[in-house]
Amino acid sequence: MFAKGTVAMSERRGAKIAGVGKALPEKRLTNFDLEKIVNTNDEWITQRVGIKERRIAAEDEYSSTFSIKAAQDALKAANLPASEIDLILVATSTPDTIFPNTACIVQRAIGATKAGVLDIYCACSGFIYGSSIAWSMIASGAMNHVLVIGVEINSRILNWKDRGSCILFGDGAGAAVFSPCAAGDGLLTFKIGGDGNYGDLLKLVNSGCVKHPEYDGTYITMQGNEVFKQAVRTMNECALQVLEDAGLAPSDVSLLIPHQANIRIIDAVAKRLELPPEKVFVNIEKYGNTTAGTIPIALCEALEENRIKKGDIILMDAFGAGLTWGALLMRWA
Ligand code: COA
Repeated sequence: MFAKGTVAMSERRGAKIAGVGKALPEKRLTNFDLEKIVNTNDEWITQRVGIKERRIAAEDEYSSTFSIKAAQDALKAANLPASEIDLILVATSTPDTIFPNTACIVQRAIGATKAGVLDIYCACSGFIYGSSIAWSMIASGAMNHVLVIGVEINSRILNWKDRGSCILFGDGAGAAVFSPCAAGDGLLTFKIGGDGNYGDLLKLVNSGCVKHPEYDGTYITMQGNEVFKQAVRTMNECALQVLEDAGLAPSDVSLLIPHQANIRIIDAVAKRLELPPEKVFVNIEKYGNTTAGTIPIALCEALEENRIKKGDIILMDAFGAGLTWGALLMRWA
């Protein structure tokens, strides 16, 4: 069920995150603004989901707009020229265009002349999937530096008449540069998984070559309650598996950076792992669910707030449409 990411550390080099960046649209859409669009209210959204506002891209802003800015900041933080990047991975469900892919558009803009370019369609788990590929490429010696971006312009794929889904999502991007480090530091283990049996729970209808005439456009459809249950179950299982594979216990975790979908999902996962609030990073109130963007944006803010120091055990844990899921365990280097 899971693709295992544990390697014999003595035989391989490690991969660490050398720099991160984020980029968010200026425009804020508050819960009070949403009250004018659908039959909802600030109290319900705050209590049931934990969001106060989210960012919305302007008409002339795209996934590439925020990816490029986040990537440039991540490269600066890593002190690495773009020409050294071997691979660009862009996790998104809202590419500028299917082709050229968004990674290609980023490559041109930042001048990553020797980089391979790949978009990953894995919804909210995309950054974990991308990071797993980055680590594997570096640990195997095939590549030295990989740029992983998680980005979404959810505002373009929402049904603004559906109060069950349109209140949840926002726009934004986060990026991370992965570079080699000593074996045993940086990424320790990862898990990625999925189950197509649950594909109908969360869907971007009319987004590919299958036509759904019963829907009048291309937008997200969701069975919220069922998604909620699967999110808690899979995030919990994934977290326990990466910890077990690394020979660590939940109490060893310095900071959990969970996918930011619903504060009640985050609380339920933290409770099962017996992690106190100070060991859980939450910024959902500011941005909502930016799907592939939540974890790199949160990681960036955790570093800005000095919540991470060298040697800390960092657990990243995500869940998304597909269904897909994944977790990464790092010793911060
Ligand atoms: N404002 C006000 N009321 C709302 C509402 C909104 N935006 N959305 C739903 N409601 C109402 C429902 O109509 C229902 O009313 P009723 O009892 O009169 O029928 C009531 O609130 C409860 O609805 P329910 O769907 O059971 O609420 P919930 O507690 O499950 O919360 C979600 C709904 C969508 C917030 C929650 O299920 C969720 O977060 N699921 C996970 C979704 C997710 O994270 N997706 C992305 C995964 S990566």
